[in-house]
Amino acid sequence: MKNVLAALTLIALAATTVQAEEITWSGAVKQVFEKHCIACHGSDAPEYAAFKKDKDAWLKKGTGMRMETYSHMISFVGWPSSGALMRRLDDGKGSKDGKPGNMYQHLGVDEQERQTNLTLFKKWVGNWNLKRWADVSRDELNGVKVKY
Ligand code: HEC
Repeated sequence: MKNVLAALTLIALAATTVQAEEITWSGAVKQVFEKHCIACHGSDAPEYAAFKKDKDAWLKKGTGMRMETYSHMISFVGWPSSGALMRRLDDGKGSKDGKPGNMYQHLGVDEQERQTNLTLFKKWVGNWNLKRWADVSRDELNGVKVKY
């Protein structure tokens, strides 16, 4: 009986851990975004197409494109800007040239915070894939999680 109880406790503990590890936009990711990204990617920033149309003017203001809602954000993960979030946030450690994406610097004030937040984004995305639409496979897209 004791053993059965011990086993059940272990299973319950494991289940709690798995649940605790589920990363969602509405939970942890949005918080990181609001701390580190929203200043340039908030609701007063333009839609992506509008940004591209007037890129120089927006860059002069130091403003990026809107990304502060779940719907906006996932368009930089899956489609149409497939892999954009991953290319920009990656630390470059797994790439040939070793260069981080140009938004990696915004992930935190020091390397430790940047790595912690990168890990969070990686878990949220699931299949951390830097490929563009033309190169990404259906299987790779199937591995994308981005839970709300
Ligand atoms: C100081 C302003 C600023 C901050 C802070 C900032 N960004 Fe950006 N971001 C920009 C600008 C400006 C661009 C457009 C220029 C470029 O492509 O580099 C951009 C481009 C991007 C793109 C590329 C979109 C595309 O497909 O062209 C992504 C993805 C992105 N940012 C994500 C983020 C994330 C996530 C954060 C927070 C960790 C962040 N940015 C923080 C200013 C910022």
